[in-house]
Amino acid sequence: MRVLLLLIFSVVWLPSLQAADIFENPQNLKVLPEDISPRELGNTMKGFALATGSRCSTCHVGEERQPLDTYDFASDDKELKGKARVMLKMVSNINATLSKELGEAHVQVTCVTCHHGISKPKTLGMALAEAADKDGIKGMQDEYAKLRDRYYGTHSYDFSEFTLTEFAQTQALGGHPDQAYAILDIVLAENSESFQGHFLYGELALMQGKKELAQGHFEKAIKINPQAAGFVQPRLDQAKQ
Ligand code: HEC
Ligand code: HEC
Repeated sequence: MRVLLLLIFSVVWLPSLQAADIFENPQNLKVLPEDISPRELGNTMKGFALATGSRCSTCHVGEERQPLDTYDFASDDKELKGKARVMLKMVSNINATLSKELGEAHVQVTCVTCHHGISKPKTLGMALAEAADKDGIKGMQDEYAKLRDRYYGTHSYDFSEFTLTEFAQTQALGGHPDQAYAILDIVLAENSESFQGHFLYGELALMQGKKELAQGHFEKAIKINPQAAGFVQPRLDQAKQ
């Protein structure tokens, strides 16, 4: 579906952008150079939309799915256009610092460096912790399902096991064991043979004095990865005491 959308985006939509001449004679550039070529302005705007996962109408006054020549691109009425200007200045400061402090050869920071396709860039852990604070464990689980459904396989969020188990540890140590359990449940639902998932489940259960639960997970962890018995066995022994 996303691939299809992208194809439509680039094959149908972009030529229509050029035909509209909307990038000729910009009237209200406050950050971009006034003598920017129409082509460069067009590419910059396309880059903004792709990098932040938004549409022209996110920042500009105009109706979605209406021809672009009905838009008022010069207007500053949309709040996000103002925020995007702040971003433009920030990015140019960052790049100026990089070239000044690091010399000529430096990587340019662009919108996508931080945004990777979403309008408020955050890590998966940040998004889940926020949902948990707001709507509890169920809210966090729903948020995970929603994000995974929409973004899995894209550059927007990292759904790897390592990211999830790291987040589970952070939440466990930060005094949110129920969130940590919920995350480990997700890890094990996606891969019932996850060594790290079972080991951490055991650790969390042991930490909470749930020895029987811990035993089961430590035993499973050793079964999955016998080479790790050296450090899991002592934990299992402790759970058996
Ligand atoms: C993330 C916000 C954002 C998105 C998305 C975005 N723009 Fe812009 N656009 C801006 C900002 C900010 C400026 C003004 C830059 C400046 O002040 O130098 C601008 C300026 C323009 C201008 C010049 C208007 C003028 O007369 O000064 C045009 C034309 C334009 N955008 C078209 C588009 C099109 C077409 C799209 C969709 C492909 C798009 N923009 C997507 C933020 C955005
Ligand atoms: C150094 C990282 C970084 C870069 C580079 C960056 N942004 Fe952002 N941007 C952020 C963060 C973080 C936020 C969220 C700020 C907040 O908490 O409201 C944000 C917020 C925004 C928002 C407001 C989103 C909203 O829903 O409130 C827009 C629009 C935006 N950025 C556009 C851009 C554009 C366009 C560029 C490239 C010119 C860009 N950003 C480059 C980090 C970055």
